[in-house]
Parts: sequence; structure tokens; C-alpha cells
Amino acid sequence: MKEYLFRHQPPYPLDVVNAKDSYVIDKSGKKYLDFLVGWCVGNAGWNKTSIMNAVKSFKGPVYVMPPFKYSRWEILAQKLVNLMPGKNGTCFRATGGTEAVEIALKISRAFNKRKKFIAFRDAYHGQSLACMALVDLYQDKFGPYSDNFVRVNADKWEETTDFVVNQIKKEEVCAFISEPIICALGVIIPPKSFFEAVQEACKQTNTAFIMDEVATGFGRTGKWFGFEHYKLKPDIVTVAKGFSSGYGGLGATIATPEIAETMRFDFSNYSTFGWHPLSTEAAIANLDYIKKNKLVEKSVSNGAYLMKKLSQFCNPEGKGLCIGFNCANKNMEMDCFKDKLLLSYINNRTVLFPALDVKKKEMDEAVEIVRKNHR
Ligand SMILES: Cc1ncc(COP(=O)(O)O)c(C=O)c1O
Repeated sequence: MKEYLFRHQPPYPLDVVNAKDSYVIDKSGKKYLDFLVGWCVGNAGWNKTSIMNAVKSFKGPVYVMPPFKYSRWEILAQKLVNLMPGKNGTCFRATGGTEAVEIALKISRAFNKRKKFIAFRDAYHGQSLACMALVDLYQDKFGPYSDNFVRVNADKWEETTDFVVNQIKKEEVCAFISEPIICALGVIIPPKSFFEAVQEACKQTNTAFIMDEVATGFGRTGKWFGFEHYKLKPDIVTVAKGFSSGYGGLGATIATPEIAETMRFDFSNYSTFGWHPLSTEAAIANLDYIKKNKLVEKSVSNGAYLMKKLSQFCNPEGKGLCIGFNCANKNMEMDCFKDKLLLSYINNRTVLFPALDVKKKEMDEAVEIVRKNHR
């Protein structure tokens, strides 16, 4: 059959027709327990009536051009900035996570005019050329990437800390970027001492300290943002995914006002569909829903319950509902799929990202499937 749509090689053959709460429903009516939620997208759970109603009752405008004023953008930006340290920051509108990271890199350049970026090798920040160069994704296919991208391994923390801090102190580094808890490597938690030392070196040298919260944001780790676990104060934060829980498509880059100010020149940033009005409504309703239903708190209590159950047969690591553990079964995704559980397997680790309001009986069911297939 002729293929009209390019698609990744899927981990499993799932033909989705709908989703509700913690379940995805396929064409034949089969229900799958979703402990992946689109890789940290559906934090609120799928198809929640109040968020759906906000989207359905939206009357327009169907589009607002980026340079124009639109009061709903102001409201969403205020809600987002109020979640930042010291309720301080300026938002840039993006269509998703990759664009949010690109904006973060651009702002860093405008701020200190330096060339180099430091990131974790084999982590993930998106699919643009710069985002792939950050982590050395498929250099053989899409490279060569510039020497300005410096990558470090997320291990041997004393050595890594010294290396990164020394690089930054040379005053040649434009920005350091990382997820606070590295989901892309199977949920790796860098030590507090690493982030504190890097943040301090960045502060002393006017290097931008960027936290990529695209996956970890909005309650995933049991805090609104992952950097709160370390009491960090990033210069720039990138968000997407859980920003709308999938009810709209958008992202954002939040920078300190001082850094944002360096972008005040003509056409410094433009995104035609950045914060489309419909997505803006979805994100506003989603943030209100997360707050009203105490989903960040639920991420803490549900995470503790899930970790305890998993500890009976493996060594889970993580925070809140951002959980990963070593697993020798390379067929884990497919084996669990056959048992109607969706999860991910990356870097020899099984990862679990359920909806933040996942029910106890759903966790019990998922744990039994994981236990059966874990090796
Ligand atoms: C940490 C991180 N940054 C950036 C991205 C890219 O986001 P998007 O797919 O919305 O472009 C992702 C996507 O998985 C991500 O996990």
C-alpha cells in the first residue's frame, strides 16, 4: 500500500482512536493502560471534561498575529511566570519543546555573545539541527555538527563537575543546558552538588544556566518544576508537553527579565503559530486544572506508592511520577504492550510516566505487568 505519511518505526502497532484518563483505546476497542502519556505530555490525564469544555467552548479569534496584543497571552504568561522562582521572568511564545529550546539557545547568544554550548551526550532536547547537535544525535546522518557543541557524560559526577565548571570559567561558554532529572537517559538524577557548582560558575561568568523542563515540568516530578528539587534559580527555563497536557500544541521559554531584554531588537524572535489562541485556552485550562485538583501533590503521593511497590523486585529511581530502573529485558516495551500496558524502554532502563491522577488499582495492575516482564 502506498504510504502518504512518514512515520517512525513504532515500538508497537497501536492504532489510536481515543483516550480517557489513564487509558488509550485502539481501533478494535482494546484499552491500554498508559504509563507513558506521550512521554510526559498527558500530566492531567486524557480527555478531562473541564479542560475539554474550555477548548470546545472557545469562540475565537481563530488566529492572532505575533506582534499584536492579545489579552489571553498575557494571562497565560502571568500564570507561567508566577510558577517561576521569585515569580520573576519574561515569556517567549513557542509551538513546542524544540522551538522553546532553540529560543533558549538564541537568547543565550544575544545575552553574552559567546559560542559554546554544554549539554549531556545522548540526552534529548528536540529535533532541530542545534537541538540534535547539543546531544550528538545522529551526527553520522545529519552532521557534521560544529565544534561549539561540547558534550559530557551523565556519570562520574566529580570528574564531570570539574570539567564543566572549568569550561565555564574560561568564559567561552554561552550556555549550559540540561533536564533537571534526565528523562531522556532513562530518568537519571544528577547530584545536587553538580547543579549547584555549575549554576554558581554560570553566575560568576554571565553564562546562561538553562533548565529544560519540557518533560519534567508541571508536576511530573512531584514539584511544579524539576529544578525546585535542587532549589536552583535557572536563568532560562523551557517548557512544552505538560504545559497543555496535550489539549493544545505549544511551548514557552521563560528568561529572567535581564536576559530577555537583550532580545529587544527588530525581528529577534517570531513564531507564526506560537501560542495559537486555541492552544492558549487549553494551556490556561490545564494549569487551572492541575492546581484545582492538586495534581502536583498527587504526583508526590502516587509516586511514593508506585516506588514502594516497584522496590519489591527492582531498584526504581526518580521523583514523583518520573520513574526509571535498570532492566535487562530489551523487549520490555513490546512485552508490556502485549499485556496492554504502555511504557518506554531507553538506555537499558524501563521508564514510567503515568498521568498524575493515576488510580491505585491502575498502579497495582501496571506493577504486576512490569513484574511479569522485568528481568
Ligand atoms: C527534554 C525535552 N526537550 C525538548 C523536547 C522536544 O519537544 P518537542 O517534541 O515538543 O519539540 C523533548 C521531547 O521529547 C524533551 O523531552
